[in-house]
Amino acid sequence: MANPSAPEKRRRGLLLLVGVGVVSALAAAAAVALATNIFERKQEARNPFFRVVELTDDTADPAVWGKNFPIHYDMYLRTVDQVRTKYGGSEAVPRAPTQADPRSVVAQSRLEEDPRLKTMWAGYAFSKDFREERGHAYMLSDQVFTERQQVTKQPGTCIHCHASTYNAYKKLGDGDIMKGFDALNHMTYFEARKQVEHPVACIDCHDSQTMQLRVTKPAFIQAMGRMKAAQGVQDYNVNRDATRQEMRSYVCGQCHVEYYFKGPEKTLTFPWDKGLKIDNILAYYDENPHTDWKHAETGAPVLKAQHPEFEMWNQGVHARSGVSCSDCHMPYTRVGAQKISDHHVRSPLLNINKACQTCHHFSEAELRERAEALQERTFRLRNQGLDALMGLVNDVKAAKAAGKTDAELAGVYALQRRGQFMLDFIEAENSMGFHAPEEAARILGQATNLLRQAQVLVRDPSFKPEIPDMLPAAAGDAHAGPGVGGKTVGNPTGGSGASGQGQGQQQQGQGQGGPAH
Ligand code: HEC
Ligand code: HEC
Ligand code: HEC
Ligand code: HEC
Ligand code: HEC
Repeated sequence: MANPSAPEKRRRGLLLLVGVGVVSALAAAAAVALATNIFERKQEARNPFFRVVELTDDTADPAVWGKNFPIHYDMYLRTVDQVRTKYGGSEAVPRAPTQADPRSVVAQSRLEEDPRLKTMWAGYAFSKDFREERGHAYMLSDQVFTERQQVTKQPGTCIHCHASTYNAYKKLGDGDIMKGFDALNHMTYFEARKQVEHPVACIDCHDSQTMQLRVTKPAFIQAMGRMKAAQGVQDYNVNRDATRQEMRSYVCGQCHVEYYFKGPEKTLTFPWDKGLKIDNILAYYDENPHTDWKHAETGAPVLKAQHPEFEMWNQGVHARSGVSCSDCHMPYTRVGAQKISDHHVRSPLLNINKACQTCHHFSEAELRERAEALQERTFRLRNQGLDALMGLVNDVKAAKAAGKTDAELAGVYALQRRGQFMLDFIEAENSMGFHAPEEAARILGQATNLLRQAQVLVRDPSFKPEIPDMLPAAAGDAHAGPGVGGKTVGNPTGGSGASGQGQGQQQQGQGQGGPAH
């Protein structure tokens, strides 16, 4: 039965013919379907949402915005997820809820992980409770229930960065957000808490009619105005003058920054008048004397540094290449034919494919290793700095026990204040050096030097300490300013023109590319 008979062959031929016909008919139908589909998707992409509800400048509830933008809202809700990375993310630690604190899950305690931090902050509320930060969904409740609220009466000023505040500003200021800002600053924390309902929400970053990005937090608007004025740019208005790519970082810079409460009014203030580098910030605090607390073990008047992600990012090669916070923390994600900015804001190391590989053509494992190698180095330098601080605290305690007075220790205190702030600046920055690895190493090297010099001075009052100013007045940097507008994303080392793709994506966006003047 090797060869089929002739009729058999004919029948097979016929079948084949019919088969081809069917296949091509199917193919044609499929092509039509595909074309329809592509057309529909293109329509979707052009008109990426269906206006289900009418949003106004008073719509605060993100669930209402979510009716028009269900995918964005869904992603936004996912900020409840807790996943740990080597140096970031967060871990969900179960706890027994109490009446005073109904949370059943919190993030891991940083004080338990490293008790040296308690010594660094001795006498300050941070030595009682300090946890790894977690997703945006928790910002309001974590602030209400932190034990830091029990140690000190916290001011209403705290609320600006932990809630959707835009409507509260308008209400309290009769439509003027600057007036509303002042009103909130003057309240007690729990009065202020009654003025807000949601964690950061759509309305804090978006215009309700155009969906364009905007900054709504007065402290950022004012600080940028003062910094630009010092650089010779008068009347800078961030919402009018910033480029769209700058806005993709500025919306985050509303909160992820170093701050203090100025004067008896407790006005939320970002110390950027002289620029964003730590040297500029220290110079600002020298001219505008401010002390957060007196160190309980040494007596030094010291400063607390807080999450300077925006300032540190600004010193790194990514910012210099025009890469924004959103490029890594809210990367474009394809949903159907739509390209959507991932509103599940989180560690990019949990999302290397979307967050890094659009620009860097290396394997996921390689990129993770590169990032972690930078973090590991920062972590080791940070540990050396903390050891130096512990050594200093012990020496000062011994000297005081032996009768040394505060006046005799004034020089030591000045060194502790500066060195400890520099150390805390990198400790408080949440990328463990990734945002600007070289700058982090420079700062930690200088911090350790200052703290060790302080130790020598305790033991030998004739010692002449030096504050090495490695970058005098940080000239040039103050002018580069954040976002380095105008510069574009260059070629990442080894990446083969991949950044072109990244840029293209940024420009396509929502058809509102280019400067948002
Ligand atoms: C080039 C990419 C990139 C850019 C740009 C960038 N980041 Fe990051 N960021 C990272 C990486 C990587 C980490 C480390 C995450 C980890 O360790 O899990 C990080 C960590 C963080 C963390 C801590 C996250 C966590 O899970 O613990 C915060 C907060 C943060 N960045 C905010 C910002 C802000 C605000 C900006 C802009 C001012 C910014 N980042 C710009 C990549 C980036
Ligand atoms: C300028 C904006 C800003 C202000 C003002 C602010 N925070 Fe925060 N806060 C943040 C950011 C950003 C994070 C997340 C990064 C981090 O934890 O370092 C955070 C994290 C926290 C956390 C969670 C992590 C932790 O520290 O345990 C608590 C609790 C908290 N803040 C309480 C407060 C209190 C109390 C005040 C008022 C004294 C305050 N915040 C004022 C921006 C701010
Ligand atoms: C209204 C102030 C505010 C704004 C605006 C804001 N953040 Fe945050 N962010 C916070 C606070 C507060 C936390 C910590 C919440 C907590 O621990 O309860 C946080 C946490 C984070 C985390 C840690 C998430 C995790 O899972 O560990 C990242 C990453 C982050 N923010 C990045 C950004 C980026 C990027 C932007 C801009 C697109 C931004 N944030 C805008 C206040 C803000
Ligand atoms: C912390 C700031 C922030 C918050 C809060 C926020 N967004 Fe966005 N959103 C962004 C950024 C950044 C982009 C990118 C915009 C760009 O590139 O011009 C964006 C883009 C968008 C876009 C344009 C399409 C896209 O995906 O790029 C839509 C629609 C949108 N957001 C909806 C929402 C909704 C709905 C909420 C509330 C549930 C929300 N956003 C909350 C920062 C924010
Ligand atoms: C929008 C494009 C873009 C994205 C997204 C991006 N990078 Fe980069 N990256 C660059 C550019 C541009 C440089 C500078 C390269 C140069 O000029 O040598 C760079 C440099 C680096 C460097 C060298 C840093 C140094 O200090 O020398 C590392 C490491 C790196 N990126 C890792 C990452 C990781 C990890 C992510 C994701 C979390 C990421 N990048 C996301 C564009 C990007």
